[in-house]
Amino acid sequence: MFPRKLLWLAALAMIAVLAVAIMRIGSIGTSEPWRLKPDDAKLVALGRQVYEARCASCHGARLEGQPNWRQPGADGLLPAPPHDASGHTWHHPDEMLFRITKYGVARAAKLANHASAMPAFEGVLGDAEIVAALSWIKSQWPPSVQTRHDELNRADAASR
Ligand code: HEC
Repeated sequence: MFPRKLLWLAALAMIAVLAVAIMRIGSIGTSEPWRLKPDDAKLVALGRQVYEARCASCHGARLEGQPNWRQPGADGLLPAPPHDASGHTWHHPDEMLFRITKYGVARAAKLANHASAMPAFEGVLGDAEIVAALSWIKSQWPPSVQTRHDELNRADAASR
């Protein structure tokens, strides 16, 4: 028979191990603050508002982008591309979309000399608002495109 004290110590040790495990699981969410959640109704509702206030003027109320978005305009800059399934927004994994929105195209893509009309929203929108706007955009894609984007995210995570 073990002395009672030892049993208590073993129980305490197990509680400590469990607590650490639970903390680790909890931090999975926060270690990916850029993860889009198109199925989160509350987040998507906020995202719609952020999109209308901050993105629609260029990317279009219906995500349609600006006309002739593949050709540079008179200012030499590219027009705003659509965010619907016809554009290439869904060709980028979550983290890249987040970085483009927060830091602008040049910093996100590490292209020092890339002049762009896409603003950087750092200091204007919080991270949660950026994720909300992008989650709303994703929620508007057809299910098949959302699934392909999920696969792209998995491939991106595996490549790290
Ligand atoms: C002033 C106009 C303007 C506003 C406002 C704007 N964008 Fe853009 N955005 C652009 C332009 C122009 C591009 C293409 C830039 C380039 O390729 O240099 C772009 C590109 C992007 C891209 C990359 C798309 C791709 O296919 O590679 C993302 C993502 C994006 N914008 C998200 C947003 C979000 C989210 C908002 C609102 C929070 C927003 N943009 C607001 C003009 C704008």
